[in-house]
Amino acid sequence: TTVSTTISSDNSFIKKLKASGRSLVVFYGSQTGTGEEFAGRLAKEGLRYRMKGMVADPEECDMEELLQLKDIPNSLAVFCLATYGEGDPTDNAMEFFEWLSNGDADLNGLNYAVFGLGNKTYEHYNKMAIYVDQRLEELGATRVFELGLGDDDANIEDDFITWKDRFWPAVCDFFGIEGGGEEVLMRQYRLLEQPNVQPDRIYTGEIARLHSLQNQRPPFDAKNPFLAPIIVNRELHKGGDRSCMHIELDINGSKMRYDAGDHVAMYPINDTELVEKLGKLCNADLDTVFSLINTDTDSSKKHPFPCPTTYRTALKHYLEITAIPRTHILKELAEYCTDEADKEFLRSMSSISPEGKEKYQSWIQDACRNIVHILEDIKSCKPPIDHICELLPRLQPRYYSISSSSKLHPNHVHVTAVLVQYKTPTGRINNGVATTYLKKKQPGGEDVRVPVFIRKSQFRLPTKPEIPIIMVGPGTGLAPFRGFIQERQYLRDEGKNVGDTILYFGCRKRSEDYIYEEELEEFIKKGTLTMKAAFSRDQNEKVYVSHLIEKDADLIWNVIGESKGHFYICGDAKNMAVDVRNILIKILVTKGGMSEADAVQYLKKMEAQKRYSADVWS
Ligand code: FAD
Ligand code: 2AM
Repeated sequence: TTVSTTISSDNSFIKKLKASGRSLVVFYGSQTGTGEEFAGRLAKEGLRYRMKGMVADPEECDMEELLQLKDIPNSLAVFCLATYGEGDPTDNAMEFFEWLSNGDADLNGLNYAVFGLGNKTYEHYNKMAIYVDQRLEELGATRVFELGLGDDDANIEDDFITWKDRFWPAVCDFFGIEGGGEEVLMRQYRLLEQPNVQPDRIYTGEIARLHSLQNQRPPFDAKNPFLAPIIVNRELHKGGDRSCMHIELDINGSKMRYDAGDHVAMYPINDTELVEKLGKLCNADLDTVFSLINTDTDSSKKHPFPCPTTYRTALKHYLEITAIPRTHILKELAEYCTDEADKEFLRSMSSISPEGKEKYQSWIQDACRNIVHILEDIKSCKPPIDHICELLPRLQPRYYSISSSSKLHPNHVHVTAVLVQYKTPTGRINNGVATTYLKKKQPGGEDVRVPVFIRKSQFRLPTKPEIPIIMVGPGTGLAPFRGFIQERQYLRDEGKNVGDTILYFGCRKRSEDYIYEEELEEFIKKGTLTMKAAFSRDQNEKVYVSHLIEKDADLIWNVIGESKGHFYICGDAKNMAVDVRNILIKILVTKGGMSEADAVQYLKKMEAQKRYSADVWS
């Protein structure tokens, strides 16, 4: 959804650059904060090369002003752009993307560079960055350094630091800047302790408006989530050592609406014990009331999160304390080690030397060490808590495919979520933030409400119920299809003519993780559903949904090729979705008599017609 914002003169980035003697502007297209974080790091590093930088959100800027950037001597625009969903721009870069693709601005004299944030497991890898990099050149702009592509499926931090290590020398070359200065570690925010602030001015977990959680007022959205009570929270697995929750959220009175296929997002809270531990490791008094204030007074972002607040609230509600820290955090932490060896160790892990990178990979990433684990294991490192609050990324909402139909349950949103819990190589147990938070919310308990909002998706049933559909959803990939099946049943009960509804489901063992077994059997009995199940571990050799689809080539071709049915995939992006897509192409070749290139084209066309949709996550 794009909101058209009126751009006031306050939002002139050219004015801001000129007023503060800056020549570098770093725009970001960010959905989960990483693009914004990378932009911030680049802007900050500019100082080293006498290029004072500024971060800018394209949604808050008049991007036409790119035409005027050339009036500032030695100016440079960098774009850190994420690709989202099925090759789309992020919400905040949507308007910029449309302006760029539909317009024909003359960008002669504009110097630029692009770094993309993508994920190779998705089909449209880094589509946005690739497009923008090429389009800017087409419009006459000058590429100062080659496009960088980050792969979040492998090691995007590595991709980024490797790119930027070559980017800066190229920039210096281009502008004739001689030698970079020493690296300066500089705080972006200054600490203000506020012991005397009125208690009712202190943020307690609100996302934007103060007291928005106490005085709930629609419309509810990402900035103003609705506190939805959990009315059902039950275990779906019948055995095994994993847990899958069926959760029902009550959205009565919220005026929120949803369609089958939409996502519900929720803001989780970090584990209290972990928060207290982090406080202790930093010798902090978590009740202290404080604000972090941007030292860049031109920035539209005054605080990194709602302030004033307490450290306890910041660590519980606003910061991702269990994420694997990026290298620049380690560099900053090194400064707080009293032991020289510790300092050297942290510094080396944040360097781009092959040994440094290898250490970072094994000691941080493979060992799944979060900030708490790092401070536990590097005992001489005692950073002040306010700096930790500056460095950690913002806690992100988690998305879930809604597993109910609003036709049947207009006031309830169902969620099907697997509990994330795993043992790390250091012997620790890591718990997923949101799923652990949900697991503890049992109806009848103290506070069973969770802050949620609905995010519309493109994942939709055909508008005509008689059109047949094929759904492929192993594991929690079943979630949106449960909503689809409920809806098709509802339509049948209303006397509508409903086409074939075919589900490929897969799980490990029939007796353990065959979720919603009774419901699915009931839909089959009523003649609404045809189901094919792959129980991968019930026999010696693996059986996957992709194998079943391959065997059913005639049926698949009949439904999508001859009856113009719809094909849906949901669940694991990494292996399953890729395998299934490849099998589908194979079927188009063997049964549809197409060449492989034609088959790929055919799928593209199906996508454009919304006959082929994927809702996948990794
Ligand atoms: P986090 O605290 O975010 O931890 C997860 C991270 O831990 C992983 O990213 C990974 O880095 C790490 N990790 C996990 N396991 C291991 C391991 N074994 N070893 C090492 N590292 C590990 N989830 C569902 O259950 N059901 C859904 O219907 C659903 N729908 C989704 C729809 C969309 C559009 C998207 C984007 C995601 C969806 N997800 C769904 C995933 C969901 O949003 C969360 O990512 C998931 O529940 C984990 O959240 P968490 O806060 O509990 O875990
Ligand atoms: P496995 O864990 O036994 O390998 C839900 O996660 C189901 O999807 C499990 O039965 C899992 O099997 C299976 N699965 C794993 N990889 C898959 C793939 N590439 N394609 C289809 N299903 C897969």
